[in-house]
Amino acid sequence: MTALFEQFSLKDVTLRNRIAVPPMCQYSAEDGFTNQWHEANYQSFARGGAGLVIVEATAVSPEGRITPNCLGIWKDEHVDGLKNIADRIKSQGAVAGIQIAHAGRKASANRPWEGDDHIQPTEEKGWQPIGPSAEAFGAHLPVTPTEMSKADIERVKNDFVKGAERALEAGYEWLELHFAHGYLAQSFFSKHANKRTDEYGGDAQGRGRFLLETLSAVRAVWPENLPLTIRFGVIEYDGNDEQTLNESIELIKQFKEIGADFVSVSVGFNTPDANIPWGPAFLAPIAKRVRDEAGIPVATAWGVDTPELANDTVKNEQLDVVMVGRMHLTNPHWTYFAAKQLGVEKPSWVMPAPYAHWLERYA
Ligand code: FNR
Repeated sequence: MTALFEQFSLKDVTLRNRIAVPPMCQYSAEDGFTNQWHEANYQSFARGGAGLVIVEATAVSPEGRITPNCLGIWKDEHVDGLKNIADRIKSQGAVAGIQIAHAGRKASANRPWEGDDHIQPTEEKGWQPIGPSAEAFGAHLPVTPTEMSKADIERVKNDFVKGAERALEAGYEWLELHFAHGYLAQSFFSKHANKRTDEYGGDAQGRGRFLLETLSAVRAVWPENLPLTIRFGVIEYDGNDEQTLNESIELIKQFKEIGADFVSVSVGFNTPDANIPWGPAFLAPIAKRVRDEAGIPVATAWGVDTPELANDTVKNEQLDVVMVGRMHLTNPHWTYFAAKQLGVEKPSWVMPAPYAHWLERYA
């Protein structure tokens, strides 16, 4: 059996293969609501054969959106639209996942194709971002966030809990907490962003406290039988990498104790001055280290772009699941392409019969 096409079970959920579509913001919502764009987008990924489709960073509060056009899960009215997306994903045989998020100091930005830069809080479309400390990210995101009070911390943790409850109500079976990419939770863990002197700052345990408490609060409402997963940036590529990686792995061990089931290993993106060694599957060896040292199943994305590479990372026990992002934008049927490329028997049948039958005969 081709490794990439083996099933993967976690708690009561089984993925039909090891291919996942990672969360990819569409920046196409109004007031956080899904629309026809999201319906078509997510359904096509699922139809293409991926085992898991994770809906984009979905904000737990309006101030937690990256842009004014991000999806939201901060009010009950959002649930119907998100349920429609989950149903569409499941109707095509994939597991429906969702990433819930707060953008922290990177919030209130223009869409990537409209500048990607901060919208000033004084502008009509913008708002004042919050963060662990009054430290701006810099570069294209120069707005200094307001340092969060203890009351803000409690409120945001509760927003994550409410988001998790709504995700469950909408029928998602795989929850991913966005603790990566320099957004709020990741920025709490980062010395670049977190200069607090209270119990939420200082050493790795203090900087990890917001993440641990948020996970713990979500764990209390998310069912034991469904995967509760974390996307976490374990390395910054800022010259302090071994220490960050060690601290990250120690924190992941605590995530596991609290009840996290899986980690999607990523980059911290807490500083614009990082020197990231972009290359094919460059994070796979780091993910393998997390897998071995923390004893938890892992995935990673970033340049796992060919079926051969994806298959090797699973076969070599670096990754349990492979996140294939941009390649799914070029071809939502990437799983079918991979099945053909890797010589899987009857490859067209990774897609539904109305396509598979004809492709088997004539492709
Ligand atoms: C992303 N990425 C991303 N990551 C995340 O954790 N939440 C998100 O909502 C988004 N949004 C997003 C939008 C778009 C358009 C892209 C291209 C990327 C990062 C994404 O999940 C993935 O890590 C990268 O695309 C790298 O993987 P690939 O594309 O090299 O397979």
